[in-house]
Amino acid sequence: MALGVNQMIDAKIDLIIRGGQVVTPTSTKKADVAIAGEIIAAVTEPGLLSSATQEIDASGRYVLPGAIDSHVHFREPGYTHKENWASGTAAAACGGATSVFEMPNTNPPTGSVEALKLKQDLAGAQAYVDYGIYGLLDENNIDSLEDLIRNGVSGFKCFMGNTFGDLPAPSDGAMLEGFEILASHGYRCTVHAENASIMARRQDRLESAGRGDPLAHLAARPAICAIEAVGRAIAFAEWTGARLHIAHKSSKDALYLIKDAKTRGVDVTVETCPHYLLMTTDDMERLGGLLRVNPPIREPGHGEALWDALHDGTIDMIATDHAPHLPEEKKGKTIWQCDCGFPGVETQMPVMLTQVNAGRLSINQYVQWSAQAPAKAWGCYPQKGVIQSGSDADIVIANLNRGGVVDNAALHSKSKITPWHGFETTASVEYTLVRGRIVVEAGHLVGAPGWGRAVRQQMPAPRPRNTDKTMRAIIDSHGVLQQ
Ligand code: NCD
Ligand code: ZN
Repeated sequence: MALGVNQMIDAKIDLIIRGGQVVTPTSTKKADVAIAGEIIAAVTEPGLLSSATQEIDASGRYVLPGAIDSHVHFREPGYTHKENWASGTAAAACGGATSVFEMPNTNPPTGSVEALKLKQDLAGAQAYVDYGIYGLLDENNIDSLEDLIRNGVSGFKCFMGNTFGDLPAPSDGAMLEGFEILASHGYRCTVHAENASIMARRQDRLESAGRGDPLAHLAARPAICAIEAVGRAIAFAEWTGARLHIAHKSSKDALYLIKDAKTRGVDVTVETCPHYLLMTTDDMERLGGLLRVNPPIREPGHGEALWDALHDGTIDMIATDHAPHLPEEKKGKTIWQCDCGFPGVETQMPVMLTQVNAGRLSINQYVQWSAQAPAKAWGCYPQKGVIQSGSDADIVIANLNRGGVVDNAALHSKSKITPWHGFETTASVEYTLVRGRIVVEAGHLVGAPGWGRAVRQQMPAPRPRNTDKTMRAIIDSHGVLQQ
């Protein structure tokens, strides 16, 4: 059977990756991967394929689907001193991410078709890896959501709480109406789930009281902010049938809400990030404003609960919330003067594969959480997120026997300041391929800007609910309220 496949595909094979351990969520098998153009033509037992123009010896290495990062901020347009599409996607490629979904808190924010087109042009000209672009859902753009869909957004982002960019949270009325519209199209809405009003009041009180120390940031954003916002977002998603994604889950407290919602069949997916799994307030004391991020790094104990939630399926995936700022922007006098966030797209894979080596997850779970789950959530599976015949050749060759030390100076991001600086890894990314093209070779960026393109998506059929009670349904064709 394999030989038959070989004979059929041999003529057009451009590249063979030989002898690596090919990983899926359910298996790790020594195999050769044949690539024709942008596509995986076959995954066969070793030694069955005759030679190709280009070959990579992956013996002793793992061959993984490239990471799909559902949460990055590439800052362009508007804040290009922090990052742009070229530097952000170069960092992604070097970190083994072959697709990224980019957030709308740029300037202008991606809340109008005009702003979307501007970002699409910038991304198309510069990207080293494939990408999706989030549209913004806010108070004033509900009537533009369908135009944004028609023009190619990958999903939406709703900032329920304040964060970098200072985009005001929409009212509940606008958010619900937005969800009604997204539900009718099957689009997923990602939420930054922290309660805006509690945080604003607390920060104000803390600042007036003279608190400017790193832990004041945590005090301003207690887990109740997440409990309330996660609960509200789930209520709106369940009522409307809109697909929901909870960004950067940082605390154990709201997990029961998510677990219950999943049991009821609500289509809610959840991401967490390496810093929430592996860092605590102890690190905040060590690193100060550098570790200021929204939501905040929490006390010891939350990380363990997040690991458990990944293992039991309450949390679906790992994202990075790559949020680059310049070193000087992270070093304000008080915690309030340090910009929130830090880069992460380049360190995720080495840091998480180090956890594989440490026995905290299997390599198969890693592939599930970093590639398959996001591909499914954003409607691009099995074109992406898996190494199998017919899928895009988005592939990483990782060495789990050779690590290094994370170094600010070596980052490809413009933001050369990471809390992982000095962290010892036991694994590294050696090759990254995006749709068959080698973008990183022996750890060096060799791809070209402009190779990356918009991810093609096909979300499952919409499942709107309570459609007789939507804003649209209660307004008749003449635009008059019926009751
Ligand atoms: C992000 C940023 O800088 O854009 N910052 C952060 O602290 N996480 C915004 C966000 O995702 O909240
Ligand atoms: Zn956020």
